[in-house]
Amino acid sequence: MKNQDYKIADLSLAEAGRHQIRLAEHEMPGLMALRTEYADTKPLRGARIAGSLHMTVQTAVLIETLVALGAEVRWVSCNIFSTQDEAAAAVVAAGTPVFAWKGETLEEYWWCTMQLFDFGDGQGPNLIVDDGGDVTLLVHKGVEFERAGAVPHAAEGDHEEQRIILETLRASLAEDPQRFTRIVAGLRGVSEETSTGVARLYRMAAEGTLLIPAINVNDSVTKSKFDNKYGIRHSLADGLNRATDVMLGGKLAVVCGYGDVGKGASAALRGQGARVVVTEIDPICALQAAMDGFQVTTVDDIVEQGDIFITTTGGTDIITAAQMARMKHNAIVGNVGHFDTEIDMAGLAAYPGVEKIEVKPQVHEWRFPDGHSILVLSEGRLMNLGNATGHPSFVMSNSFANQVIAQLELWTGEYGVAVHMLPKHLDEKVARLHLDALGVRLTTLTKAQAEYLGVAVEGPFKPEHYRY
Ligand code: NAI
Repeated sequence: MKNQDYKIADLSLAEAGRHQIRLAEHEMPGLMALRTEYADTKPLRGARIAGSLHMTVQTAVLIETLVALGAEVRWVSCNIFSTQDEAAAAVVAAGTPVFAWKGETLEEYWWCTMQLFDFGDGQGPNLIVDDGGDVTLLVHKGVEFERAGAVPHAAEGDHEEQRIILETLRASLAEDPQRFTRIVAGLRGVSEETSTGVARLYRMAAEGTLLIPAINVNDSVTKSKFDNKYGIRHSLADGLNRATDVMLGGKLAVVCGYGDVGKGASAALRGQGARVVVTEIDPICALQAAMDGFQVTTVDDIVEQGDIFITTTGGTDIITAAQMARMKHNAIVGNVGHFDTEIDMAGLAAYPGVEKIEVKPQVHEWRFPDGHSILVLSEGRLMNLGNATGHPSFVMSNSFANQVIAQLELWTGEYGVAVHMLPKHLDEKVARLHLDALGVRLTTLTKAQAEYLGVAVEGPFKPEHYRY
């Protein structure tokens, strides 16, 4: 690490962070097994990994696994509120540069992201770990504008963040007109963590603008069917409790979206005794919600009755300012979809006569002119990470084991420019690494049973089209 080559809240938190990392390691058997498996061969030697993923205690264990496998790593958070400052401090104290702190401004966020690319001696990264696709977006836009020789100006009505991204890229172009072209030429690929980032990748691939190989980690079964679902089942309730400590039992909770995250969110709220109502656009997911026993209706229909509203769609304008104005006094509004596009925060801020009062960081009361208020968590950004500490270690061990395997695949394999999935035998390997910790005893197929089913005794056990 170059001297002072980091920016975090407070290095003196390192010891506190280290204690938490130590406990997390015990709960992350997948990552620890990969460390043991590759302790001698260090297959990531020579890899320079730029990571943009919530700088939490669990991510610290991921980072230190990548380092244990031989990689050189630089890290930022993929969200302005999600960093656990003690985790960032511990990682820096152990020698990996981190640029992240809880409560970054958007300018600071994009400044941090730019720090990912300089590994010293003119070297850029050769691998990216991305969560939500911001680094992937930045390098692709960077190349696009370098080829054009200019960066366009933000259009009237563009999101504030769009303006900041364009300014960041304009400054980069002025300073080094080939920065991103060089970076992309040196990249072996990106592994993407979440649904929203994966959607961006497939769109780029379809448009023919994708420039590097990509691995879709999100859709490994041991990622999206575990982290998105069981992770949110834990961290959504945690975020609501820490933010407001409101009694969830008996309340009417509205969950927008019944995909993997929506299923986990609905289960969590029901588990606390809330009455849960779901909204969906997809008839299949709507039918699933109905058959799971949830009322399914529209936001407009239920907006005056709900006590808690949670968006989980990865879409935009799911709850509008006009709808928020119709909510009950002190209704709670939070989002766990990746970006702050689901709750119309700009519309709320522009609502005539509305007043914003900070109850505490990441909890704001918005008082309407008629005197009634609503409570918005984490300013419409991921509240399970902004108001709490995100998913617990055990489930993140599954996600991050997939990440480590994806990085190994990109580094040692030959992947073309496209979006790839990890093969099923590796998905099953990740699950297997987590069974002992839960005392699971797996049944082994006899040879005759395996032949009857048409699978190998050691797996893979399911065809590609199986949906779990
Ligand atoms: P998904 O695609 O499985 O689910 C999203 C669901 O929302 C779909 O069923 C879709 O039909 C529905 N939907 C879309 N527009 C809607 C609308 N206008 N009204 C109602 N429903 C609508 O995706 P997944 O995996 O559940 O992820 C959702 C979001 O959560 C993504 O942005 C993802 O990146 C993020 N995520 C957040 C995590 C966290 O820790 N907060 C963890 C994992 C994912």
